[in-house]
Amino acid sequence: MLEIKNLHVSVEGERILKGFSLTVNAGEIHAIMGPNGAGKSTLAKVLAGHPDYEITDGSITFLGKNLLELEIDERAHLGLFMGFQYPVEIPGVTNLQFLHSALNSKRKSRGESPLSQEVFRELLMSKMQEMEISTTFAERDVNGGFSGGEKKRNEILQMAILQPKLAVLDETDSGLDIDAMKVVAAGVKSQLNDENALILITHYQRLLDYIKPQFVHVVVDGKIAKTGGAELALKLEEKGYAIHQ
Ligand SMILES: Nc1ncnc2c1ncn2[C@@H]1O[C@H](COP(=O)(O)OP(=O)(O)OP(=O)(O)O)[C@@H](O)[C@H]1O
Ligand SMILES: [Mg+2]
Repeated sequence: MLEIKNLHVSVEGERILKGFSLTVNAGEIHAIMGPNGAGKSTLAKVLAGHPDYEITDGSITFLGKNLLELEIDERAHLGLFMGFQYPVEIPGVTNLQFLHSALNSKRKSRGESPLSQEVFRELLMSKMQEMEISTTFAERDVNGGFSGGEKKRNEILQMAILQPKLAVLDETDSGLDIDAMKVVAAGVKSQLNDENALILITHYQRLLDYIKPQFVHVVVDGKIAKTGGAELALKLEEKGYAIHQ
């Protein structure tokens, strides 16, 4: 599904990713861990198509297409979803309007007919209930005045509506209280099947207790320094990253 080969990325002339390679197949859950500043969010932003990041070498293939040649909306339509470490607020656009238009634009790109406001509202309400998000959030501006934890839940709500092929969640667990983390983890987990895949960027083992990855990668200084199974995350929690640096 996703193949990243020897990726080198610079920001403002500074090299951040230095030969990052990763293959993700359908049905897989990958955790990406590693110390602050290692380049984890940079990877997420490159996948999303952030213009500040210059790809100096390497390739990214997503569902057989050269991802780096696709516009941001084309990436989303193809089934890529990004949940960011710091979700942005969109003043003047309600959650309902935003999600309705995002879903309909995805449907359009696939030749499907748009959902009416009424049908979409019902879909949104049911997903909000699943995510234990108050339905009043439908009429609030996207992330406007949301608490840190509410923004993260809202990201998972977006994911539940868009049903991506590949979701990349950057520190979705940070800032969540324990109950919220369980709800978010259950929300993410309920969407996983044999045909989609998940990349979880996280610092903590706790989320991985709920969503068990088959692969754990440790990123150090712009590339994967070690890959293991779920047990690697436990070891890191105990011993820290020092042994891999
Ligand atoms: N737009 C930018 N301008 C300058 N430096 C940047 C920019 N974006 C990222 N960097 C630098 O790239 C490095 C990697 O940052 P990145 O956000 O990818 O780290 P991270 O692994 O996600 O860390 P954390 O665990 O703290 O979230 C950092 O040293 C950061 O300062
Ligand atoms: Mg980060």
